[in-house]
Amino acid sequence: MNSKRDTSFHIGILSAMPEEVGHTILNLKNVIKAQYGDLTIYSGEWFSSNYLNKPIFVTVAWSGWGKVSSSRAATRIISTIYNEKKIDFIIFTGVAGGIKKDLKQWDIVIPDELIQYDMDARPIFERFILPALNMDRIKTDPKILNWANKVVREKLDKKELPFYKNLYNGLIGTGDQFVAKKSSIDNLKTILPEIFAVEMEGGAVAQVAHQEKIPCLIVRVISDNADDEASLNFNEFLKLYQKYSWDLIKIFLDNLESKFLQL
Ligand code: ADE
Repeated sequence: MNSKRDTSFHIGILSAMPEEVGHTILNLKNVIKAQYGDLTIYSGEWFSSNYLNKPIFVTVAWSGWGKVSSSRAATRIISTIYNEKKIDFIIFTGVAGGIKKDLKQWDIVIPDELIQYDMDARPIFERFILPALNMDRIKTDPKILNWANKVVREKLDKKELPFYKNLYNGLIGTGDQFVAKKSSIDNLKTILPEIFAVEMEGGAVAQVAHQEKIPCLIVRVISDNADDEASLNFNEFLKLYQKYSWDLIKIFLDNLESKFLQL
């Protein structure tokens, strides 16, 4: 429990869909809205019982699906100032399709690395290399990964996260494709045998954060297994997930540590 805190935090929370943000905005006080075309960004204060009466500033949005929309929203969030405080840390959270055998709905995957599996600038660059960075995988900062694992594991062990199951770390693949076919899974496993899960935004947000030098965490919850039943399972899952997505987001907001935010 962090009962003392002499710095204020401003945390960005981004998802692709409103269900993935869930009740987050309802839990904030003094919410203001900023409108950028079709993107609404909400900023407010979260009063956590862990931090006496000093609120955390939280800026929240959902971007829409895919790499372009999420990159655009991530950039807007990173530029948001609330009560004169810039963003310290961005968390992208939402659902993903499980590729690794045994992954089930409600398993949590915190990637240790992300790859944009549809980036292919051959023959100028090797497959998957992001030309802007000259690297193919964006690693989660180990300090952030260890912290996130610790706070989630504690909640899971104490059975304080109903519905949520096991926590995994692994490679997440991001691409502008909803994967819903065995043949697509097989292709992905051929090109990236170690891939854990797929989604459509995380690698893009991680790239923006990397380039903008903002600490970043991607957190995914398995909604489907990217197979022929994926769309059905995904839609059913989201209906329930919207009630519980805040429970996961809250863990991070309630357990912030200034050391990895370089404050
Ligand atoms: N997000 C959740 N499920 C997904 C899938 N099967 N493919 C891509 N993104 C997803």
